Amino acid sequence: MIYFDHNATTPLDDRVLDALLPFLTTFYGNPSSLYRHGRIVRSAIDAAREQVAALVGVQSSQVIFTSGGTEANNVALATLAPHSSLAISAIEHPSVTEPALRLKKLGHQLTFIDVDANGYVTQDAVAQVIKEKPALVSIMLANNETGIIQDLARHAQQLRANDIIIHSDAVQASGKIPISFNTLGVHLMSLSSHKIYGPKGCGALIFNKDVEIKPLFLGGGQEQELRAGTENVAAIVGFGKAAELAQAELAEYSKQLLTLRKLLENGLTTIPGLTIFAQQANRLPNTVQFGIPEIDGEMLLMKLDQKGIAVSSGSACASGGSVPSPVLLAMGVEADFAKSAIRISLGKANTETEILEFINLLKTLVYQL
Ligand SMILES: Cc1ncc(COP(=O)(O)O)c(C=O)c1O
Repeated sequence: MIYFDHNATTPLDDRVLDALLPFLTTFYGNPSSLYRHGRIVRSAIDAAREQVAALVGVQSSQVIFTSGGTEANNVALATLAPHSSLAISAIEHPSVTEPALRLKKLGHQLTFIDVDANGYVTQDAVAQVIKEKPALVSIMLANNETGIIQDLARHAQQLRANDIIIHSDAVQASGKIPISFNTLGVHLMSLSSHKIYGPKGCGALIFNKDVEIKPLFLGGGQEQELRAGTENVAAIVGFGKAAELAQAELAEYSKQLLTLRKLLENGLTTIPGLTIFAQQANRLPNTVQFGIPEIDGEMLLMKLDQKGIAVSSGSACASGGSVPSPVLLAMGVEADFAKSAIRISLGKANTETEILEFINLLKTLVYQL
């Protein structure tokens, strides 16, 4: 199989597997237990917390482990003060959009921040939303479909100056571009383990001590009493290792991805009528989303699957339905054209040979379709 869907999930790194396995077998103690067997596990969680904190340049006490990016996003939005309003960008992942819509149903005012044709939240749009005095704004760092990287530091500065809490979903950005929580100037940030070669079902919310976290789960006093429940120890240890590797290998990895992405884009642009969405914009080094007029993205995905190539049509979470991608619609792409979208997201094991094979096959399929 040629796997081109790393924004959906990544394979587990062998080194991550080696690090986490003992915590599924030998070290099964409960980290809250006071005897030695528990303390060993507790210190492994502490070490993982340091590793995740280092990836985004914060102190370990600013990291809450969660069940993934979805939970982190939900907790972030739940910090919204009673009777106050919020604003989110129009291209957020459903794990931000859905809790925001729930808050709206509960009586909070919700504003969607428009994006331009490239998918950027503009400074004007931020200035506009500030006039509505939201208490919280959520703008993702990088988009899962197009790979667009927002000018987050600038937006955060503008928002902070108006006493607005800013949350950013950095699930897709982490491990692909350098991230400094403090330089970006956000209050809350979500991360996910399985997008950086760690295990699934684990993530983190990074928080600034100025923000009051309202736990979604109440119970034991785990995670500074902010996320009750016995810790998913092996996954947390794996996430920590994945974060350490992502940080150590980031420069090399992103260079490798960019070289592959350029090769891919050069090949794609030889296909008549093909458009790479937001091609000139600042995008993640691994992500390319394109459309071909009058070709159904789902159909093309199936044909590629038959040939052993895994890609996504738009967002992974939206595939299966034939609704056009809300991200592309927000960028002003026509609904029919949006339905032709295919996303390629590259990863560690991909090679130039795979890219060339894909381009050749795509040309044949497009001709047939
Ligand atoms: C941008 C973004 N945010 C959040 C999530 C959800 O993360 P998780 O799968 O860890 O719940 C995803 C996963 O696709 C994502 O791409």
